[in-house]
Amino acid sequence: MTTLMQESITHPRERDAAIEEIAARLGIRAERGRRFAELTSLRVGGAIDWVFAPETEEGAAALAGELDAADIAWRVLGAGSNVLAEDGEHHYVVLSMREVKGTALFEGARVSVSAGYSLPRLCVDAARRGLAGIEGLGGIPGTVGGAVWMNAGAFGNEIGNVVETVRVARGGRIVAVRGGEVEWNYRHTSFRDGELLLGVTLRLIPDDSAKIVERMAEVKRQRMETQPHGARSAGCFFKNPPGSGLSTGRMIDEMGMKGEKRGGAVVSPVHANFIVTEGDDARASDAFALAEEIRERIRRERGIELEYEVELWRSNAREATGTISGEGSPGGPNAKGEEEERG
Ligand code: EPU
Repeated sequence: MTTLMQESITHPRERDAAIEEIAARLGIRAERGRRFAELTSLRVGGAIDWVFAPETEEGAAALAGELDAADIAWRVLGAGSNVLAEDGEHHYVVLSMREVKGTALFEGARVSVSAGYSLPRLCVDAARRGLAGIEGLGGIPGTVGGAVWMNAGAFGNEIGNVVETVRVARGGRIVAVRGGEVEWNYRHTSFRDGELLLGVTLRLIPDDSAKIVERMAEVKRQRMETQPHGARSAGCFFKNPPGSGLSTGRMIDEMGMKGEKRGGAVVSPVHANFIVTEGDDARASDAFALAEEIRERIRRERGIELEYEVELWRSNAREATGTISGEGSPGGPNAKGEEEERG
Protein backbone atom coordinates (compact mmCIF):
# COMPACT_ATOMS: atom_id res chain seq x y z
CA MET A 1 0.00 0.00 0.00
CA THR A 2 1.08 3.55 -0.50
CA THR A 3 1.80 5.04 2.83
CA LEU A 4 -0.64 7.82 2.45
CA MET A 5 1.05 9.32 5.43
CA GLN A 6 3.41 11.03 3.04
CA GLU A 7 0.68 12.20 0.76
CA SER A 8 -1.41 13.43 3.66
CA ILE A 9 1.53 15.36 4.99
CA THR A 10 1.76 17.17 1.66
CA HIS A 11 -1.93 17.55 1.01
CA PRO A 12 -3.82 17.40 4.29
CA ARG A 13 -6.72 19.48 2.97
CA GLU A 14 -7.31 17.27 -0.04
CA ARG A 15 -7.17 14.20 2.15
CA ASP A 16 -9.65 15.71 4.64
CA ALA A 17 -11.99 16.61 1.80
CA ALA A 18 -11.79 13.03 0.48
CA ILE A 19 -12.53 11.68 3.96
CA GLU A 20 -15.53 13.97 4.39
CA GLU A 21 -16.84 12.95 0.99
CA ILE A 22 -16.57 9.23 1.84
CA ALA A 23 -18.34 9.77 5.20
CA ALA A 24 -21.18 11.67 3.53
CA ARG A 25 -21.58 9.19 0.68
CA LEU A 26 -21.68 6.16 2.97
CA GLY A 27 -23.70 7.94 5.66
CA ILE A 28 -21.18 6.99 8.36
CA ARG A 29 -20.46 9.21 11.33
CA ALA A 30 -16.97 10.73 11.16
CA GLU A 31 -15.63 12.83 14.01
CA ARG A 32 -12.64 15.11 14.44
CA GLY A 33 -10.90 16.21 17.59
CA ARG A 34 -10.99 12.93 19.53
CA ARG A 35 -8.06 11.74 21.61
CA PHE A 36 -6.81 8.28 22.46
CA ALA A 37 -7.05 9.35 26.09
CA GLU A 38 -10.85 9.16 25.65
CA LEU A 39 -10.88 5.98 23.60
CA THR A 40 -8.52 3.63 25.42
CA SER A 41 -8.72 2.01 28.84
CA LEU A 42 -5.27 3.34 29.84
CA ARG A 43 -6.75 6.85 29.34
CA VAL A 44 -3.62 8.25 27.72
CA GLY A 45 -2.63 9.08 24.15
CA GLY A 46 -2.79 11.95 21.72
CA ALA A 47 -5.07 13.54 19.13
CA ILE A 48 -6.62 11.61 16.27
CA ASP A 49 -7.39 13.19 12.90
CA TRP A 50 -10.59 11.31 12.21
CA VAL A 51 -12.64 8.65 13.94
CA PHE A 52 -15.16 6.75 11.83
CA ALA A 53 -17.91 4.86 13.63
CA PRO A 54 -19.82 2.56 11.26
CA GLU A 55 -22.81 0.72 12.72
CA THR A 56 -23.11 -2.34 10.52
CA GLU A 57 -20.76 -4.98 9.16
CA GLU A 58 -21.69 -3.99 5.60
CA GLY A 59 -21.01 -0.31 6.34
CA ALA A 60 -17.65 -1.08 7.92
CA ALA A 61 -16.65 -3.28 4.95
CA ALA A 62 -17.66 -0.59 2.45
CA LEU A 63 -15.77 2.04 4.43
CA ALA A 64 -12.55 0.00 4.50
CA GLY A 65 -12.90 -0.54 0.74
CA GLU A 66 -13.38 3.18 0.08
CA LEU A 67 -10.46 4.22 2.28
CA ASP A 68 -8.24 1.66 0.53
CA ALA A 69 -9.36 2.88 -2.89
CA ALA A 70 -8.53 6.46 -1.89
CA ASP A 71 -5.20 5.30 -0.38
CA ILE A 72 -6.06 6.72 3.01
CA ALA A 73 -4.31 5.00 5.93
CA TRP A 74 -6.54 3.57 8.68
CA ARG A 75 -6.39 1.29 11.65
CA VAL A 76 -9.01 -0.48 13.68
CA LEU A 77 -9.93 0.15 17.28
CA GLY A 78 -12.29 -1.97 19.34
CA ALA A 79 -12.81 -1.20 23.01
CA GLY A 80 -9.30 0.25 23.29
CA SER A 81 -8.46 -2.06 26.17
CA ASN A 82 -5.18 -3.42 24.81
CA VAL A 83 -3.68 -0.31 23.23
CA LEU A 84 -1.02 2.14 24.37
CA ALA A 85 -1.21 5.05 21.91
CA GLU A 86 1.59 7.61 21.93
CA ASP A 87 1.00 11.16 23.15
CA GLY A 88 1.66 12.90 19.83
CA GLU A 89 -0.65 13.50 16.88
CA HIS A 90 -2.03 10.53 14.99
CA HIS A 91 -2.61 11.46 11.36
CA TYR A 92 -4.62 8.52 10.15
CA VAL A 93 -8.23 7.38 10.27
CA VAL A 94 -9.30 5.36 13.28
CA LEU A 95 -12.03 2.94 12.33
CA SER A 96 -13.90 2.37 15.58
CA MET A 97 -15.83 -0.92 15.61
CA ARG A 98 -17.62 -0.30 18.90
CA GLU A 99 -20.93 0.57 17.26
CA VAL A 100 -20.90 -2.50 15.01
CA LYS A 101 -22.53 -4.53 17.73
CA GLY A 102 -25.90 -5.79 16.48
CA THR A 103 -27.29 -8.70 18.45
CA ALA A 104 -25.87 -12.12 19.21
CA LEU A 105 -27.75 -14.67 17.09
CA PHE A 106 -27.84 -18.10 18.70
CA GLU A 107 -28.68 -21.23 16.77
CA GLY A 108 -28.06 -24.50 18.56
CA ALA A 109 -24.46 -24.48 19.78
CA ARG A 110 -23.51 -21.70 17.36
CA VAL A 111 -23.57 -17.97 17.87
CA SER A 112 -23.02 -15.32 15.23
CA VAL A 113 -21.97 -11.94 16.53
CA SER A 114 -20.54 -8.70 15.18
CA ALA A 115 -17.05 -7.46 15.97
CA GLY A 116 -18.13 -4.59 18.22
CA TYR A 117 -20.21 -6.78 20.54
CA SER A 118 -18.98 -6.79 24.12
CA LEU A 119 -17.03 -9.95 25.00
CA PRO A 120 -18.18 -10.04 28.66
CA ARG A 121 -21.77 -9.71 27.50
CA LEU A 122 -21.39 -12.54 25.01
CA CYS A 123 -19.93 -14.76 27.75
CA VAL A 124 -22.99 -14.11 29.93
CA ASP A 125 -25.40 -14.70 27.01
CA ALA A 126 -23.69 -18.02 26.23
CA ALA A 127 -23.61 -19.19 29.85
CA ARG A 128 -27.34 -18.52 30.26
CA ARG A 129 -28.03 -20.65 27.21
CA GLY A 130 -25.92 -23.51 28.50
CA LEU A 131 -23.01 -22.98 26.10
CA ALA A 132 -19.46 -23.39 27.35
CA GLY A 133 -16.02 -22.61 25.88
CA ILE A 134 -15.70 -18.90 26.58
CA GLU A 135 -16.68 -18.65 30.26
CA GLY A 136 -13.04 -17.94 31.24
CA LEU A 137 -13.05 -14.81 29.05
CA GLY A 138 -15.92 -13.07 30.87
CA GLY A 139 -13.67 -10.56 32.63
CA ILE A 140 -11.83 -9.28 29.56
CA PRO A 141 -13.23 -5.80 28.88
CA GLY A 142 -12.87 -5.95 25.10
CA THR A 143 -14.92 -6.37 21.96
CA VAL A 144 -15.42 -9.74 20.30
CA GLY A 145 -13.49 -8.51 17.23
CA GLY A 146 -10.53 -7.43 19.31
CA ALA A 147 -10.53 -10.74 21.16
CA VAL A 148 -10.49 -12.67 17.87
CA TRP A 149 -7.82 -10.39 16.37
CA MET A 150 -5.34 -11.28 19.10
CA ASN A 151 -6.73 -14.66 20.21
CA ALA A 152 -7.59 -13.44 23.70
CA GLY A 153 -7.28 -16.03 26.43
CA ALA A 154 -7.76 -16.39 30.16
CA PHE A 155 -8.43 -19.08 32.74
CA GLY A 156 -8.06 -22.00 30.36
CA ASN A 157 -10.07 -20.61 27.43
CA GLU A 158 -8.79 -19.13 24.17
CA ILE A 159 -11.31 -17.69 21.75
CA GLY A 160 -9.55 -19.22 18.71
CA ASN A 161 -10.51 -22.70 19.94
CA VAL A 162 -14.21 -22.06 19.31
CA VAL A 163 -14.14 -19.92 16.14
CA GLU A 164 -15.96 -21.55 13.23
CA THR A 165 -15.80 -18.65 10.74
CA VAL A 166 -14.59 -15.05 10.78
CA ARG A 167 -16.17 -12.43 8.55
CA VAL A 168 -13.47 -10.21 7.05
CA ALA A 169 -13.69 -7.13 4.77
CA ARG A 170 -12.10 -7.67 1.37
CA GLY A 171 -12.43 -5.21 -1.50
CA GLY A 172 -15.38 -3.52 0.21
CA ARG A 173 -17.26 -6.81 0.69
CA ILE A 174 -17.75 -9.37 3.45
CA VAL A 175 -15.84 -12.62 3.03
CA ALA A 176 -16.09 -15.63 5.40
CA VAL A 177 -12.80 -17.21 6.45
CA ARG A 178 -12.88 -20.60 8.19
CA GLY A 179 -11.41 -20.71 11.69
CA GLY A 180 -9.22 -23.64 10.59
CA GLU A 181 -7.49 -21.41 8.05
CA VAL A 182 -6.38 -18.95 10.72
CA GLU A 183 -3.29 -19.52 12.86
CA TRP A 184 -4.23 -19.16 16.50
CA ASN A 185 -1.17 -18.56 18.63
CA TYR A 186 -0.58 -17.29 22.16
CA ARG A 187 -2.18 -13.81 22.11
CA HIS A 188 -1.50 -13.60 18.37
CA THR A 189 -3.12 -14.69 15.09
CA SER A 190 -2.25 -14.73 11.39
CA PHE A 191 -4.59 -11.80 10.68
CA ARG A 192 -2.61 -8.97 9.16
CA ASP A 193 -2.59 -5.20 9.06
CA GLY A 194 -5.13 -4.08 6.49
CA GLU A 195 -7.60 -6.83 7.40
CA LEU A 196 -10.79 -5.71 9.09
CA LEU A 197 -12.64 -8.28 11.19
CA LEU A 198 -16.38 -7.67 10.96
CA GLY A 199 -17.92 -10.53 12.86
CA VAL A 200 -17.55 -14.11 13.88
CA THR A 201 -19.48 -17.36 14.24
CA LEU A 202 -18.47 -19.40 17.27
CA ARG A 203 -19.25 -23.06 17.83
CA LEU A 204 -19.63 -23.53 21.56
CA ILE A 205 -19.99 -26.61 23.75
CA PRO A 206 -23.40 -27.52 25.24
CA ASP A 207 -23.18 -27.96 29.00
CA ASP A 208 -25.27 -27.38 32.08
CA SER A 209 -26.03 -23.67 32.37
CA ALA A 210 -25.83 -23.62 36.18
CA LYS A 211 -22.37 -25.22 36.04
CA ILE A 212 -21.09 -22.69 33.49
CA VAL A 213 -22.47 -19.79 35.53
CA GLU A 214 -20.75 -21.27 38.59
CA ARG A 215 -17.42 -21.54 36.71
CA MET A 216 -17.80 -17.92 35.61
CA ALA A 217 -18.34 -16.85 39.20
CA GLU A 218 -15.22 -18.79 40.27
CA VAL A 219 -13.11 -17.18 37.53
CA LYS A 220 -14.42 -13.76 38.55
CA ARG A 221 -13.49 -14.44 42.15
CA GLN A 222 -9.95 -15.48 41.13
CA ARG A 223 -9.58 -12.48 38.87
CA MET A 224 -10.73 -10.08 41.59
CA GLU A 225 -8.18 -11.60 43.92
CA THR A 226 -5.20 -11.60 41.56
CA GLN A 227 -5.72 -8.70 39.12
CA PRO A 228 -6.45 -4.99 39.59
CA HIS A 229 -10.04 -3.98 38.94
CA GLY A 230 -11.47 -0.53 38.39
CA ALA A 231 -7.97 0.67 37.50
CA ARG A 232 -6.93 2.26 34.21
CA SER A 233 -5.08 -0.66 32.67
CA ALA A 234 -4.64 -2.57 29.43
CA GLY A 235 -4.52 -5.98 31.06
CA CYS A 236 -1.20 -7.77 31.10
CA PHE A 237 1.43 -5.51 29.55
CA PHE A 238 3.87 -8.25 28.51
CA LYS A 239 3.48 -11.82 27.32
CA ASN A 240 4.75 -14.61 29.49
CA PRO A 241 7.97 -15.94 27.90
CA PRO A 242 6.58 -18.59 25.52
CA GLY A 243 7.26 -22.21 26.41
CA SER A 244 9.15 -21.34 29.60
CA GLY A 245 6.44 -21.82 32.19
CA LEU A 246 7.61 -18.52 33.68
CA SER A 247 5.17 -15.80 34.72
CA THR A 248 6.21 -12.28 33.76
CA GLY A 249 4.10 -10.92 36.62
CA ARG A 250 5.95 -13.07 39.13
CA MET A 251 9.37 -12.05 37.70
CA ILE A 252 8.55 -8.32 37.93
CA ASP A 253 7.20 -8.87 41.43
CA GLU A 254 10.39 -10.70 42.46
CA MET A 255 12.44 -7.71 41.28
CA GLY A 256 10.52 -5.66 43.84
CA MET A 257 8.93 -3.42 41.26
CA LYS A 258 5.31 -3.47 42.46
CA GLY A 259 4.22 0.10 43.14
CA GLU A 260 7.12 1.52 41.08
CA LYS A 261 6.07 4.88 39.54
CA ARG A 262 7.08 6.96 36.53
CA GLY A 263 4.98 10.09 36.27
CA GLY A 264 1.38 8.92 36.14
CA ALA A 265 2.20 5.27 35.43
CA VAL A 266 2.46 2.66 38.17
CA VAL A 267 3.31 -1.05 38.34
CA SER A 268 0.12 -2.39 39.87
CA PRO A 269 0.59 -3.42 43.50
CA VAL A 270 -1.93 -6.22 42.85
CA HIS A 271 -0.40 -7.88 39.77
CA ALA A 272 3.04 -6.80 38.59
CA ASN A 273 2.36 -7.43 34.89
CA PHE A 274 -0.27 -4.67 34.91
CA ILE A 275 0.83 -1.08 34.36
CA VAL A 276 -1.93 1.25 35.47
CA THR A 277 -2.24 5.00 35.01
CA GLU A 278 -3.25 7.49 37.69
CA GLY A 279 -4.19 11.16 37.87
CA ASP A 280 -5.05 13.75 35.25
CA ASP A 281 -1.49 14.25 34.06
CA ALA A 282 -0.65 10.64 33.16
CA ARG A 283 0.95 10.33 29.76
CA ALA A 284 1.59 7.48 27.38
CA SER A 285 5.29 8.26 27.63
CA ASP A 286 5.13 7.54 31.41
CA ALA A 287 3.71 4.07 30.80
CA PHE A 288 6.19 3.42 28.03
CA ALA A 289 9.18 4.59 30.11
CA LEU A 290 8.14 2.30 32.95
CA ALA A 291 7.61 -0.62 30.57
CA GLU A 292 11.01 -0.14 28.95
CA GLU A 293 12.63 0.01 32.36
CA ILE A 294 11.02 -3.32 33.27
CA ARG A 295 12.23 -4.86 30.02
CA GLU A 296 15.74 -3.57 30.58
CA ARG A 297 15.91 -5.03 34.10
CA ILE A 298 14.51 -8.40 33.03
CA ARG A 299 17.02 -8.48 30.16
CA ARG A 300 19.89 -7.67 32.51
CA GLU A 301 18.90 -9.78 35.49
CA ARG A 302 17.23 -12.76 33.82
CA GLY A 303 18.56 -12.67 30.24
CA ILE A 304 14.99 -12.67 28.92
CA GLU A 305 13.64 -10.41 26.19
CA LEU A 306 10.07 -9.54 27.16
CA GLU A 307 7.56 -9.16 24.36
CA TYR A 308 4.80 -6.60 24.63
CA GLU A 309 1.30 -7.97 24.92
CA VAL A 310 -0.35 -4.55 24.52
CA GLU A 311 -0.20 -2.90 21.11
CA LEU A 312 1.85 0.27 20.82
CA TRP A 313 0.32 2.73 18.40
CA ARG A 314 2.84 5.26 17.24
CA SER A 315 1.99 8.86 16.54
CA ASN A 316 2.99 10.38 13.22
CA ALA A 317 2.94 14.10 13.83
CA ARG A 318 3.60 16.27 10.83
CA GLU A 319 6.38 17.79 12.86
CA ALA A 320 8.36 15.37 14.95
CA THR A 321 7.33 15.47 18.59
CA GLY A 322 10.11 13.24 19.85
CA THR A 323 7.96 11.25 22.24
CA ILE A 324 8.09 7.51 22.42
CA SER A 325 10.39 5.50 20.24
CA GLY A 326 10.76 1.96 21.36
CA GLU A 327 12.91 -0.64 19.79
CA GLY A 328 11.26 -3.98 19.79
CA SER A 329 7.89 -2.56 20.64
CA PRO A 330 4.81 -3.90 18.96
CA GLY A 331 2.52 -2.19 16.53
CA GLY A 332 4.43 -0.86 13.58
CA PRO A 333 4.26 2.60 12.18
CA ASN A 334 0.81 3.63 11.24
CA ALA A 335 0.06 0.69 9.10
CA LYS A 336 -3.49 -0.08 8.27
CA GLY A 337 -5.83 -2.26 10.14
CA GLU A 338 -4.45 -3.08 13.49
CA GLU A 339 -7.14 -4.07 15.78
CA GLU A 340 -7.03 -3.83 19.47
CA GLU A 341 -8.26 -6.13 22.05
CA ARG A 342 -8.86 -6.39 24.51
CA GLY A 343 -7.40 -7.97 27.47
N1 EPU B 1 2.45 -13.79 40.56
C1 EPU B 1 3.22 -13.17 41.51
N2 EPU B 1 3.20 -11.79 41.53
C2 EPU B 1 2.45 -11.05 40.67
C3 EPU B 1 1.66 -11.71 39.70
C4 EPU B 1 1.67 -13.08 39.66
O1 EPU B 1 3.90 -13.80 42.28
O2 EPU B 1 2.49 -9.82 40.77
C5 EPU B 1 2.43 -15.27 40.54
C6 EPU B 1 1.06 -15.79 40.90
O3 EPU B 1 0.90 -15.91 42.29
C7 EPU B 1 1.03 -17.14 40.20
C8 EPU B 1 1.89 -16.90 38.96
O4 EPU B 1 2.67 -15.75 39.23
O5 EPU B 1 1.65 -18.12 40.98
C9 EPU B 1 1.05 -16.71 37.70
O6 EPU B 1 0.17 -15.59 37.87
P1 EPU B 1 -1.30 -15.54 37.26
O7 EPU B 1 -2.04 -16.77 37.65
O8 EPU B 1 -1.88 -14.22 37.56
O9 EPU B 1 -1.05 -15.73 35.71
P2 EPU B 1 -0.27 -14.84 34.71
O10 EPU B 1 0.58 -15.75 33.92
O11 EPU B 1 0.40 -13.68 35.36
C10 EPU B 1 -2.02 -15.11 32.79
C11 EPU B 1 -2.39 -14.21 31.66
C12 EPU B 1 -3.56 -13.32 32.05
C13 EPU B 1 -4.74 -14.18 32.45
C14 EPU B 1 -4.29 -15.07 33.62
C15 EPU B 1 -5.37 -16.04 34.05
C16 EPU B 1 -0.51 -13.57 30.27
C17 EPU B 1 0.57 -12.58 30.05
N3 EPU B 1 -1.27 -13.35 31.32
O12 EPU B 1 -1.49 -14.28 33.80
O13 EPU B 1 -3.92 -12.58 30.88
O14 EPU B 1 -5.84 -13.40 32.83
O15 EPU B 1 -3.15 -15.85 33.23
O16 EPU B 1 -5.59 -17.00 33.05
O17 EPU B 1 -0.65 -14.50 29.49
C18 EPU B 1 -3.96 -10.58 29.61
O18 EPU B 1 -3.88 -11.29 28.62
O19 EPU B 1 -4.04 -9.33 29.51
C19 EPU B 1 -3.96 -11.19 30.92
C20 EPU B 1 -4.03 -10.49 32.04
